[in-house]
Amino acid sequence: MSDYLINTSEDYNNIYQKSTNDLEEFWSTLAKDNFKWQKSWNSVLEWDFSKPEVNWFQGAKLNITENCIDRHLESNGDKTAIIFEPNDVNDKSEHISYSQLHKRVNKMANVLKGIGVKKGDRVCIYLPMIPDLAISILACARIGAVHSVVFAGFSAAALSTRINDCQCEIVITSDGSFRGNKILNLKKIVDDALNDCPQVSSVLIAERTKSKIELKSGRDKLLNNLIKNASDSCSIEIMDSEDPLFILYTSGSTGKPKGMVHSTAGYMVGAGYTFKNIFQYQNNDIYWCTADIGWITGHSYIVYGPLLNGATTIMFEGVPSYPDYGRFWKIVQKHKVNQFYTAPTAIRALAKEPIDFVNRYDLSSLKVLGTVGEPINEEAWKWYNKEIGKNKCPIVDTWWQTETGSIMISSIPNVIESKPTYATLPFIGIQPALMDENGNEIIGNNVEGRLCIKFPWPSMARTIWGDHKRYKETYFSAFKNKYFTGDGAYRDEKGFYRITGRVDDVIIVSGHNLGTAPIEDAINEHDLVAESAIVGVPHEIKGNSLFGYITLKQELDSEESLSDIKKDINQLISKQIGPIAKLDRIEFVPGLPKTRSGKIMRRILRKIAHRDVNNLGDVSTLLNPDVVKKIIEIIIK
Ligand code: WTA
Repeated sequence: MSDYLINTSEDYNNIYQKSTNDLEEFWSTLAKDNFKWQKSWNSVLEWDFSKPEVNWFQGAKLNITENCIDRHLESNGDKTAIIFEPNDVNDKSEHISYSQLHKRVNKMANVLKGIGVKKGDRVCIYLPMIPDLAISILACARIGAVHSVVFAGFSAAALSTRINDCQCEIVITSDGSFRGNKILNLKKIVDDALNDCPQVSSVLIAERTKSKIELKSGRDKLLNNLIKNASDSCSIEIMDSEDPLFILYTSGSTGKPKGMVHSTAGYMVGAGYTFKNIFQYQNNDIYWCTADIGWITGHSYIVYGPLLNGATTIMFEGVPSYPDYGRFWKIVQKHKVNQFYTAPTAIRALAKEPIDFVNRYDLSSLKVLGTVGEPINEEAWKWYNKEIGKNKCPIVDTWWQTETGSIMISSIPNVIESKPTYATLPFIGIQPALMDENGNEIIGNNVEGRLCIKFPWPSMARTIWGDHKRYKETYFSAFKNKYFTGDGAYRDEKGFYRITGRVDDVIIVSGHNLGTAPIEDAINEHDLVAESAIVGVPHEIKGNSLFGYITLKQELDSEESLSDIKKDINQLISKQIGPIAKLDRIEFVPGLPKTRSGKIMRRILRKIAHRDVNNLGDVSTLLNPDVVKKIIEIIIK
């Protein structure tokens, strides 16, 4: 029996070596000893990256919800599985035990069966961060339906594209959603989306805001009534390892979103094992990931990873700024959170606010801090470490992707040291490679290249729904026999990896490769700078020149002080990176266009810098489309 727990650096070295010496032996022992199977596999791994085809644990039978819920019931039935923290601070939080979760998932599963959902059917879930969201996901998995969660901040157009792409016939939504002091009418958005989705036969509506909604007869059904009458027992559907568990859309750099398809067994093994070790979760810990379940981080590290480990996981409905900027820290104090996992964009936003919002609260329960989603700049890292972790909580900077299913490169608390802006070392079983532009692997340390992964890992996405060709082209064509991540990375003298950003964000200036992230890091060190984004603009002599969009922490009108800041910025860059990285043009803008998951949309900034504003492409996923107009006015004077 081996759980392969990583508690010391020696454990890490030994297990890592084992996992790379004999990949199959390692993963099969881990899978066999730590998860519940209805039937074991015939082969551990079959793979061919040229097709690409990857099969893990073929022939095995299982259900992931048995692993997430049923197997904990006997010893931990009364333990809290989910703490729901509502948007309104004055509303009570809800504690859902494993046995209550079991009943609620079963009831929901029976409701789905009752409206005709069968194994393999796709179900679109468009819900806010309320317990019904986690329950709907698990209910689908229980009966073998493939869930496709769409973030409840997406517009009707984005929703209908996603519903149609995988031909969902069922949509689960709510009457509305509370976000800070706003109420969003989700049902109305669904109604608009469904004008373009004639195949949708049923819409299940959870009650949350009690907003007035219109029901389309024959199609729309109130969940409360159905749940009340449903049985709370539902046997598991026996699934094959490679049966799809879910589809999750991720935006490509261009074109329509890619429906990444995740398999059942491999995903389970990856999400479960990474969660336990990277967050060093101990039995009675309270774990909180602030992501939305509409993104992969929420799938793997709010729902599946924690529940597979019998953990207590918090679901927060609201936003970090409501009722004020102390909300996150208030929740940490209230629930005595031990592991806290968030995104750099949230850290930067909170760091801009008066420190009193942090210092009002007792954060002494915190043991581990995590960050994910984009490179974290050094200033934000240091603030997080000092003000939140009080210099005593290891920070896990976790690098991974929707496509990878689980964390791939990360430090491990008290095992692999944290280093600001570095994701550090590959997780067990993961073998990264840095590649040069000619397709050769770059060997040695202190080198930079395109980040690839050499061998399959269990939780990797198997395909893009309905478009295997695009899957192959996007991930397996740039470098022979390797999975290409689309990211660049630097490997330091110790072999630690620093993700430098998307490769399309690397700008070559006078033959020098410059990652945008380190330049932005340097700029963000300026006291008055809130955020920055660098793009490349074609330049006659240098090939490219650098264009910086800067947002300031406070408005400054005097031309003189603005021009001083520009000078300071270039000095900082010169100091941190070298004069080669100095910006040719700096523009102060009121905000940066961001996706709803908080990523800066560089594609748009690049186009504006190129003065190519008539064809900005798809802006439907932007959180703040208004800012684009303002930027255009400033740049194209
Ligand atoms: C970026 C989120 C630097 C990266 C889990 C990746 C990161 C993309 C980090 C995937 C990190 C994610 N440091 N960059 N710790 N984590 N990224 O699919 O560019 O939303 O390719 O998955 O985010 O974003 P996705």
